[in-house]
Amino acid sequence: MNAPAPNLIAGWSPDSWQTRTAVQQAKYPDAGALDAALAELSGMPPLVTSREVQALKTQIAAAQAGKMFVLQGGDCAESFADTTPDIITNRLKVLLQMSLVMVHGMKKRVVRVGRFAGQYAKPRSADLETRDGVTLPSYRGDIVNAPAFTAEARVPNPRLLIRAHARSAMTLNFVRGLIDGGFADLHHPEFWDLDWVAHSPHSGAYQQMVDAIGESIRFMETLADKTIGDFGRVDFFTSHEALHLHYEQAQTRTVPRQDGWYNLSTHLPWIGVRTAELDGAHVEYCRGIRNPVGIKIGPSMDTDWVLGLLDTLNPDDEPGRIVLIHRMGAGKIADALPPIVEAVRDAGRQVLWMCDPMHGNTESTSTGVKTRKFDNIRAELDTAFDVHQACGTHLGGVHLELTGENVTECMGGARDLTETDLSRAYKSQVDPRLNYEQALELAMLIVRKQAGATVP
Ligand code: PEP
Ligand code: CO
Repeated sequence: MNAPAPNLIAGWSPDSWQTRTAVQQAKYPDAGALDAALAELSGMPPLVTSREVQALKTQIAAAQAGKMFVLQGGDCAESFADTTPDIITNRLKVLLQMSLVMVHGMKKRVVRVGRFAGQYAKPRSADLETRDGVTLPSYRGDIVNAPAFTAEARVPNPRLLIRAHARSAMTLNFVRGLIDGGFADLHHPEFWDLDWVAHSPHSGAYQQMVDAIGESIRFMETLADKTIGDFGRVDFFTSHEALHLHYEQAQTRTVPRQDGWYNLSTHLPWIGVRTAELDGAHVEYCRGIRNPVGIKIGPSMDTDWVLGLLDTLNPDDEPGRIVLIHRMGAGKIADALPPIVEAVRDAGRQVLWMCDPMHGNTESTSTGVKTRKFDNIRAELDTAFDVHQACGTHLGGVHLELTGENVTECMGGARDLTETDLSRAYKSQVDPRLNYEQALELAMLIVRKQAGATVP
């Protein structure tokens, strides 16, 4: 029998990205300290397993075939300070509730992928930030530095790589414990209520659905004369932007009795729009790993670029390997998306189409606060469904920035949050997130749209 071949990809190795231009990387002042941290990281246990990664790939392939729908959501940037039981539990609850709404309304299984347990590195529009004549490195996420505007906080610190790994492990450990312990059991959806259920304008519709699901389960169990145990188990996968390439490389491993290399820091790494250059380091790194890979597609990317990415990242057109996450903006999607969808369709490429209606719709208020309007988020999603329908393809997932907390970062929604509401509970260090009510409302709108009903 042949031994597993660790590297079947020509010219690729976990560090081959270092021969390419790597944009958006932290500049560590002490190279020796960085090397020491990376050596330590390389010897640490992985956060996920290759089997789980393969399971997700199979489910993404099913979503490509229209049999499942992918819900990917979580913080724009996780922060170390948010590694608390309440914040993790609430984020899980809101994702569970949204997926319940979707399963019920779409009659399709939903794959849940959190933007969590590793979403600590952020691309920035500038390397440096100046305030009152003082210039410091930009905040690049808790894995690199800290947000406070002091020299000490902003200098990239390699020890934070170790902390990021530890915080990811804590988060994942708690999520796994909750899920395995029956937290997501459909017999008890009331366990995952957030207090919005009592106060939200949507509470009636949600409660009705939960009751109907409870009824159906009891009905089937009466018929079968047994408890349907599998309802106690759901899968949860993790994802983060594969931005900090030294960190990703240190967790790129071979696995006994498996071919190839896996990034075992997350199930689904993705390439952001700022790092998607065809000959850049991020694409080179992702080329060689066996994980499914997400690619953000922005309005400035043309069809050759997108097809080039597919050739490079999935030359064999493997099902479940590529998730194309388009994020065009409500005003641009109708013009920018169809040519790309048609080119990928005409090339006969297998991809999962996912819409991120957040990142093309970021704006600043007159006082400089970053926000997003719920109506623009919803409009982009609506148009995404329409474009895919017109092209004979289908939208198989959504990618959202959200939190289980009652923040006021995005405007609009059923409570019609306004500019003056933003200051009340604005917590994000980076992009504005949907709060739990807005997230649930969006899930309901997605379902109505899918069902073909006119969205009110
Ligand atoms: C993000 O997902 O937080 C992000 C930076 O997205 P994009 O690369 O699409 O701008
Ligand atoms: Co973001």
